[in-house]
Amino acid sequence: MRLGRKTMAAQSDRHYLYQEAVQDTEAELDFVEETWAELRDRPAELLREDFCGTANTACDWVRRQPWHHAIGVDLDGEVLEWGRLNNLAQLDDEQRARIELLQEDVVDTLSEPADIVLAMNFSYYLFPTRPDMIAYFRNVYEGLVDDGIFFLDAYGGYDAPREIEEERECDGFTYVWEQASFNPINGMMDCFIHFECPDGSRMDRAFSYRWRLWTLPEVREMLAEAGFSDVTVYWEGADEDANEGNGIYEPADVGDADPGWVCYIVAQR
Ligand SMILES: C[S@@+](CC[C@H](N)C(=O)[O-])C[C@H]1O[C@@H](n2cnc3c(N)ncnc32)[C@H](O)[C@@H]1O
Repeated sequence: MRLGRKTMAAQSDRHYLYQEAVQDTEAELDFVEETWAELRDRPAELLREDFCGTANTACDWVRRQPWHHAIGVDLDGEVLEWGRLNNLAQLDDEQRARIELLQEDVVDTLSEPADIVLAMNFSYYLFPTRPDMIAYFRNVYEGLVDDGIFFLDAYGGYDAPREIEEERECDGFTYVWEQASFNPINGMMDCFIHFECPDGSRMDRAFSYRWRLWTLPEVREMLAEAGFSDVTVYWEGADEDANEGNGIYEPADVGDADPGWVCYIVAQR
């Protein structure tokens, strides 16, 4: 690095790196569409993306079918504006007319009833207590049409509460996930995302999360308490040869005690 020149980290855009490293909207929406088709006899039209951030998933939803509409909800005006300038800007006018972004709290947003509500990337873990979580789940329930479905993801495993740092190579940078602290008394964790660049520079704490490490039985119980009639865990199948997940999620009552797992929860109204 020469003096006077900005490092690669200083020139990088944290939202762009996040989308590249963390999100796989295609795989997520494939799962949502396939599961909807198995459970319902009509096409889904309106999808609400809670904690939408840059609204990447909402944009992919409207791109998929001409009858798809999306609402993205996020508290943070800066991240919504980034989404407008970078993601919605890549849609054509007709597609863009089918998306609405709301700078609102997911706990009390009163959007038009949706067929599908998404809470992905574990964003709902940020509600620290049962009353807070149930208040959010109740608002999702109220925000769905009568046969609507709520899709969430979840993570866990015996590595989940450990204070560790994991690295993953991405295209042109390294993604670093840090579980910085875990308090076993209240279940709260501090986690950070850092990005490292090939010139040795680092974007430290590009994203910070303080959340509770909820367990699947707790989440299922709270969804039931909020009114959902059927709450099913979709667990990932195994690729025995590669000794890793195969990307196919099926309804399950029993999961493996893996060090780290990610699954979907499908809650039907
Ligand atoms: C982990 S990011 C998730 C981004 C994106 N949904 C994804 O799947 O990658 C969490 C987002 O939730 C938003 N957020 C946090 N609390 C919220 C609330 N109560 N209501 C709406 N958005 C909230 C933050 O502003 C942030 O953009």
